[in-house]
Amino acid sequence: MNTIEALRTRRTIRKFDSKEVSRQVLDSIFEAVRFAPSWKNSRTFRFTVITDAKVKGRIAEEATRTPSNNKNIINNAPCVIIQSAVNGKAGYTADGEFDTVKGDGYTMYDAGIAADELCLAAHEYGLGSVIMGLVDYDKIAQIISLPEDETVVTAIAVGYPESIPNPPSKYEVAEYVRYID
Ligand SMILES: Cc1cc2nc3c(=O)[nH]c(=O)nc-3n(C[C@H](O)[C@H](O)[C@H](O)COP(=O)(O)O)c2cc1C
Repeated sequence: MNTIEALRTRRTIRKFDSKEVSRQVLDSIFEAVRFAPSWKNSRTFRFTVITDAKVKGRIAEEATRTPSNNKNIINNAPCVIIQSAVNGKAGYTADGEFDTVKGDGYTMYDAGIAADELCLAAHEYGLGSVIMGLVDYDKIAQIISLPEDETVVTAIAVGYPESIPNPPSKYEVAEYVRYID
């Protein structure tokens, strides 16, 4: 699959079949995500891969927010990846000051880039994914014993799609692009 095809055909997948995601495939995905761009190459993105049913179940029960379908999604996904970010680096100078008026916004910016690269790499291996922002970040951090200097960003469920939904509506290019010629 070339990059443009991957961008056009990736869909958020919320229902997965029961087939496990092998460690080999996960390693291949993370090997690709290594190359994600980041603020001054600060590489603050981190991922905790959860396949253990007990831990996954705790996240579903204790750390999802309503209204959302995230509890069911997590319970039924073979694999849930907690994305976290190292605090205080992206958007900061070496002295620990904010480098721009966007403050620490680049921590989230970089996390978003890495998340999409993960989802696109997963797509290449036939996997579907859903990024879930509606979760209890602090509770997840507690459940997975996240290092103190990191913050949970999202949970990303990954698995082989039960089916591929039609794309939701998307803007036409003219609705979100301006050219100054
Ligand atoms: C930052 C972010 C947070 C999201 N949070 C959730 C979520 O909590 N639950 C969910 O089911 N989908 C979530 N989504 C998926 C979006 O709903 C989905 O990307 C959007 O509807 C467009 O569908 P598509 O990805 O198939 O193009 C999230 C997506 C992003 C980028």
